[in-house]
Amino acid sequence: MLVLGIETSCDETAAAIVADGEEIRASVVASQEDLHGRFGGVVPEIASRAHLERFLPVLTTALNQAHLDLTAIDAIAVSNRPGLVGALLVGLSAAKVLAWALNSSIVGVNHLEAHIIAALMGKKVKFPLVALVASGGHTSLFLSTSFTQHGLIGQTTDDAAGEAFDKVAGILGLGYLGGPLVEKAARGGNPKTFDFPRSLLGEDSLDFSFSGVKTAVLYHISGQDATQSAEKLSSRELADVAASFAQREKVRSVALGGGVAANRTLRERVSEAARAEGFSFYVPPLNLSTDNAVMVAALGYHRLQEGLADDLTLDAYPRASDPGA
Ligand code: KG4
Ligand code: ZN
Repeated sequence: MLVLGIETSCDETAAAIVADGEEIRASVVASQEDLHGRFGGVVPEIASRAHLERFLPVLTTALNQAHLDLTAIDAIAVSNRPGLVGALLVGLSAAKVLAWALNSSIVGVNHLEAHIIAALMGKKVKFPLVALVASGGHTSLFLSTSFTQHGLIGQTTDDAAGEAFDKVAGILGLGYLGGPLVEKAARGGNPKTFDFPRSLLGEDSLDFSFSGVKTAVLYHISGQDATQSAEKLSSRELADVAASFAQREKVRSVALGGGVAANRTLRERVSEAARAEGFSFYVPPLNLSTDNAVMVAALGYHRLQEGLADDLTLDAYPRASDPGA
């Protein structure tokens, strides 16, 4: 089954063609980093307009990459929650038009769940697992019992992990987009120079906080050491959060996903924590950690296999917890 995945939830316009939820035939991602950089963050109106301009070229490039004609597509999968609603609506409208014209199935997917699938694709997965999704807008923990069943068990009470990276970069004057810049700037610094306070969850709490990292940086001198301390702290917090949730849920597998999962320090930390506990560990390749449409097509495939197709009344929702979402 050939599924066309469409992703426009934030500032990446992406299309991908995936066979049977595993085999990547095409993956195209057009980033809008150039447009939002001077504002220091994603401007929703600009994002929506850019998706409109870029969608058709991105789709055409994906079809060319796969050497396929649109009529070969069996189903359309689209991120329809959570995200910037104006941005989501561009991808959703395109998906509906295509599904209508091709008389194909359409399936809406949760963008955060798709980030989990990016870590699991093509692997022998042992469910249940605890999945940590750390992106620009969300830092959420899920208990996943299958490819399509993901229950939210915890989330950040304030900043998302990616947002913390982006704000730290802003405070330190590193520029935009924060995550990769912090990672680069931290290289070679001494993380022991600053002993930042921890902001981890309390013993019985299911939620956690990242604004502490940002505030700590705000009150320290800028520089490479502060940057590295911030990166190490964020990674340590995230690794501890993932490991402690896995223990609490009594599962033996941990998955990591979302844009922040592209951070090497974090990947190593969580991998080490998982290894120390004897857990299986799943993480996406770097190019599938940040936003892409492969993960959308793959999750769409699994939902369709389970009879979870949608129809042309499918809507977009800013939050996954919104009524109807
Ligand atoms: O999942 P994603 O691509 O988009 C959203 O769904 O939000 O995540 C983007 C976030 C941004 O905050 C970005 O700074 C962060 O992921 N990020 C990183 C790295 N690459 C991207 N954070 C830390 N280290 C990285 N290498
Ligand atoms: Zn994302």
